[in-house]
Amino acid sequence: MPEDIDKKVFPKDFMWGGSTAAHQVEGDTHNQWSVWERANAQRLAKSAKKRLSWMPYWKNIKNQAEDPDNYISGRGIDHYNHYEKDFDIAKKLNFNAHRFTIEWSRIEPQPGQWNQEALDHYRRYIKELRARDMEPVLNIWHWTVPVWFANLGGFEKKRNLRYFERFVHKVALELTDDVKYVITLNEPNVYASFSYLTGEWPPQKKSLLLMIRVYRNLARTHRRSYYILKHHRPSLHIGVAAQLANIQAKRAHSVMDELITEWMRYFWNWWFLARIRKEQDFVGVNYYFTDYYRFKLPAKPINPKLPTNDLGWYMEPEGIYPLLLRIWAHYKKPIMITENGVADEQDQYRRWWIEETIVAMERAMSEGVNVIGYFHWSLLDNFEWAYGWWPKFGLVEVDPKTLKRKIRPSAKWFAAQIKKL
Ligand code: BGC
Repeated sequence: MPEDIDKKVFPKDFMWGGSTAAHQVEGDTHNQWSVWERANAQRLAKSAKKRLSWMPYWKNIKNQAEDPDNYISGRGIDHYNHYEKDFDIAKKLNFNAHRFTIEWSRIEPQPGQWNQEALDHYRRYIKELRARDMEPVLNIWHWTVPVWFANLGGFEKKRNLRYFERFVHKVALELTDDVKYVITLNEPNVYASFSYLTGEWPPQKKSLLLMIRVYRNLARTHRRSYYILKHHRPSLHIGVAAQLANIQAKRAHSVMDELITEWMRYFWNWWFLARIRKEQDFVGVNYYFTDYYRFKLPAKPINPKLPTNDLGWYMEPEGIYPLLLRIWAHYKKPIMITENGVADEQDQYRRWWIEETIVAMERAMSEGVNVIGYFHWSLLDNFEWAYGWWPKFGLVEVDPKTLKRKIRPSAKWFAAQIKKL
């Protein structure tokens, strides 16, 4: 028997935590998204059947999906005021870290006008995490922008990047005293695609050219933000949270399927990371998807029909294993799993999903891949962007009406695992 058989794979300082995003939980945000929600709620409710009835879970969500209120983030789950209680819950789950976003539109409601109250709030937020021995992983931008920035053309224009960078500078000065890990951007590929190519999200544009321009501007602004943050505080570890998929060829020996698979891996997974290779200290990965591609245009995954989550997404949690190996092979930098989870209202898949993920991480780590943390999406049920309130990603169930929090059985199981690992 090999002598290190009992050796623990997860080091003592491995970060276990939940992940959240300001707009999805805080409540009462005023930004490009909240304005868009109010303007589009009726349309989204009316078109719900046409858009969503293919989902196996449709009958369970029909009423909610056809109700305009579903599409308004409103007071969220009031995490802005409940964060201490929510951290107590996270602590109960044996978490030693937490990933969260600060809301730009709160901090800078008008160009160059800083809201001290909001800055103080986030300072307290970080302090309360530290008080509970939880490592704060500070995410600067998770898709929402102030209305004034959107009106100027947002990330479409290179000259607007200076506004974001001024904000990053402010964050570096005011909020990084007690922080070690900073994520600049969340999922630039998803944002550029949904907001500028498919046109499903604000500002609902459909242009490949614009999408590429926004994508490139986000890479540019990450690079500059990296140096702003490093200049101010060289000890920071900085990265992005990239949405990376385990992309595979549908037919094992098809050269054509391989070709499209390689192209999709480059376009979806590596394009952005390759541009910030020098400007990242760790690779942040949000993993939800294993996608099988067949040579066909337009490129679309052809996945097994089952199992799927409530959103109809094909689930292959163990697909994170080959993905971790590929990330490691490309970058040889510490990897932080910044998001990973399932929309699962009945809590029937979450435990299996987490268990498979832990095994996959153990396997990759015992083969030398340096994974430094795992952040489940999400700590709390939250507002799921254009789908609204019905998808339930939380380890903790939250009733948006009463704001009552209830730990799901899978989360209790996860908490017990963390103790053993
Ligand atoms: C995003 C989250 C979102 C989750 C589930 C990720 O792509 O970063 O904001 O809620 O996926 O769709």
